[in-house]
Amino acid sequence: MNIVLLYYSGAGNTKYIALNILKRLNERGHHVDISRITNASLEIPNKEIDLFIVGFPVMNMEAPQLVEETIKHLNAKDKAIAYFCTKAVLSSEAIHHLSEISTQRELRTVAKLDLYMPATDALAFIAKKGSKTEKVLKFFHSRNIGKKLNHFIKKAERGKRITISKKWYTYLSFLIPQKSKESINNQFTKYIPDFYVQNESCVQCMLCVHNCPEKNITFEDKIKFGTNCDMCLKCLHHCPTDAIQIGKMTIGKARYNEVKVPIYN
Ligand SMILES: Cc1cc2nc3c(=O)[nH]c(=O)nc-3n(C[C@H](O)[C@H](O)[C@H](O)COP(=O)(O)O)c2cc1C
Repeated sequence: MNIVLLYYSGAGNTKYIALNILKRLNERGHHVDISRITNASLEIPNKEIDLFIVGFPVMNMEAPQLVEETIKHLNAKDKAIAYFCTKAVLSSEAIHHLSEISTQRELRTVAKLDLYMPATDALAFIAKKGSKTEKVLKFFHSRNIGKKLNHFIKKAERGKRITISKKWYTYLSFLIPQKSKESINNQFTKYIPDFYVQNESCVQCMLCVHNCPEKNITFEDKIKFGTNCDMCLKCLHHCPTDAIQIGKMTIGKARYNEVKVPIYN
């Protein structure tokens, strides 16, 4: 099959899973074009594609906006699409929501998978560097990931439309007052203006500038953050000198730039 594998990833969990899927697909004889989703326009190969696979981290119970936009602009009527996401606790309606958009775009959702992976938000905001919390968070992940990936790939290959129902707890959302819902939605975006670089630590390697999926980080005699941030935390976790901080919240907290989750067959 000709497969296009698109993924969005902050600290690296989703990239890690995407690369493992790529390896499995290649072993099964498929031809795969893989791309990271960024706001630079996506280059979809100009040939007959049998299957799209899209992976993303759950953020604030949803897929990142850029992923949603990518699906909305995919010119892929009647094609099959499979979704996987990585999450720390709750994925809520993230895949369900994307699958609804695919249906509107006349795409056929054929497989879905959500996996628990280390919480990149909690590591940066809560876990002190070297603490037990850091160790526990970095160890927490789904069991039998290899088997789950094989099952996901086989379903995607089969190409039969699946229905994705909402998670049971989303039906209880009417119990949450509107104000609390708004504050949940703002819980991360409110930190966007607080990103800064500790100039004494910054070695101006430009990794953050190159890594930012939204091209929100620029360099003009020093690193500058704009306001078009997804809060993926790629800049913060991958800075080689821990120079990137969000207010006081992330000082002395863990960083996560090497995924060590084992995946067996
Ligand atoms: C800003 C932010 C918000 C997050 N929100 C959620 C969430 O609502 N539910 C959840 O289960 N995980 C949430 N997470 C955790 C990530 O989904 C999880 O760690 C994921 O594997 C990160 O993948 P990545 O390294 O590819 O970005 C959040 C992480 C960040 C940085």
